[in-house]
Amino acid sequence: MITSILAQSIWQPESASTVAPTVDWLFYFILYLSTFFVVLIAGLMVYFAIRFRRKDPNDMPEGMTHSTALELTWTVIPTIILMFIFVVGFRGYLDMVQPPSGAYEITVNAQKWSWSFEYPNGAVSSELHVPANTPVILTLTSKDVIHSLYVPAFRTKKDAVPGRYNKTWFQSVVPDDRFEPSVTIGEGDDAQTFNDVAVYDIYCAEYCGTQHSKMLTHVVVHKPEDFVKWVKDAGNRLKGLSPVEMGRELFKQNGCVNCHSTDGTPGTCPTLKDVYGHAVQFSNGVPPIDKADENYIRESIVDPNARIVRGYSPGAMSSFANLPPEQIDALV
Ligand code: CUA
Repeated sequence: MITSILAQSIWQPESASTVAPTVDWLFYFILYLSTFFVVLIAGLMVYFAIRFRRKDPNDMPEGMTHSTALELTWTVIPTIILMFIFVVGFRGYLDMVQPPSGAYEITVNAQKWSWSFEYPNGAVSSELHVPANTPVILTLTSKDVIHSLYVPAFRTKKDAVPGRYNKTWFQSVVPDDRFEPSVTIGEGDDAQTFNDVAVYDIYCAEYCGTQHSKMLTHVVVHKPEDFVKWVKDAGNRLKGLSPVEMGRELFKQNGCVNCHSTDGTPGTCPTLKDVYGHAVQFSNGVPPIDKADENYIRESIVDPNARIVRGYSPGAMSSFANLPPEQIDALV
């Protein structure tokens, strides 16, 4: 009892998916098995060192021969144990890679250094929203380097690789009392409040550059009927917004906000404060401009490496040329 309470809080995060119990069971099996053998082997070493120590200078060991029975024992027993671990692990792995049919599909786009999630109706969000207790398939890809989507509470981890599509799936298991009446995610202007949701952490689990450790977001689990409503609203979110409001929304949705500050704070990428209408210096002998205009800003969105602002390195940002033209206009 006490060990299981300690174990839950120290070695494993909260468990909230269908595969989590199997993963945890195998983890603890291997942990306790290893503990048993460490104690046994270290204990025997100490015991033998005392029992068979040299008692006087003429004490010579007898020549050693082999023991077939002993050798068979230490070969057969570990083989059986390892096969057992393999079979349990492989069955768990098969469960994780075989999505059930009819699962809800979400596309995951990773980029330095943010996540964006796209739903069947075209809605896009920077957190992963899912219906509770429902199978969800994720199709992951990346715009630049390898990232890895990791949801500790679901025991789910899958690489997002540029130029290919990886799939993973999970089904959350969220008890009714885990839903919180109101959860606020983000700070300041980016803060969003959701009602009646359960929220879990998402990490990037593949080192992808300077802001890797900040490539964080959340899974927001809604009750199934609330999720339907959320997805519908999110799909309509950009409709009826003015270009400025739409640009503000897209700036968040596409993760621009993670690298570009708007208040002058220096970061991995140039701040956007005092860019429009001001002089910009470039590196590599590219001639400076006196007044940054819409054309320069558009170029920076669709071809970020065309001109690199002095003091920054190329390759930190990938192109957003795939956004619909009206969204690029709104961002500009
Ligand atoms: Cu993305 Cu680490």
